[in-house]
Amino acid sequence: MNTREIKSVLIDYNSLAELDKTHQKLVQKAKDAAEKAYAPYSEFKVGAAVLLENGEIIEGNNQENAAYPSGLCAERVAIFYANSKYPNVAIKAIAVTANTDKGFIKEPIPPCGSCLQVMLESEKRSENSIEVLLYGEDKITVADSIKQFLPVNFNKDMLK
Ligand code: THU
Repeated sequence: MNTREIKSVLIDYNSLAELDKTHQKLVQKAKDAAEKAYAPYSEFKVGAAVLLENGEIIEGNNQENAAYPSGLCAERVAIFYANSKYPNVAIKAIAVTANTDKGFIKEPIPPCGSCLQVMLESEKRSENSIEVLLYGEDKITVADSIKQFLPVNFNKDMLK
């Protein structure tokens, strides 16, 4: 028997001012996107902003549906659009936040498993690590790669 211990590195910041201007702008775009979410059922409005290698920022937000499973998370709306518009441009970073009836979340939320799997695919596809910035008013959590959240993952290498 062999036990494997797996370590992930997440860095927490106390305020936006601690981030550089590019990352501050990306978080602001995610906040703007959250305000425009269509989330009448959960009332949990998530915003995502994707920074591409060409400098462009693509936003997305959760889109819910009366037939609940037909909706889609903010991260996947943004990533699928970015990959459909620029199939050969790598994603450098993604910022995510959420807004409720109490305003922006205090603690950051990690992306759901399905969104992480989609982000991992983008990372693998472009052979470029995607930085993740999770914004909450009291804390901003930053990771240098999707692999920090999915250290053990199923990916295209396994289909060979
Ligand atoms: N949601 C996201 O947009 N991203 C996540 O990573 C987690 C959850 C959305 C889905 C649904 O519209 C609402 O938040 C409540 O789960």
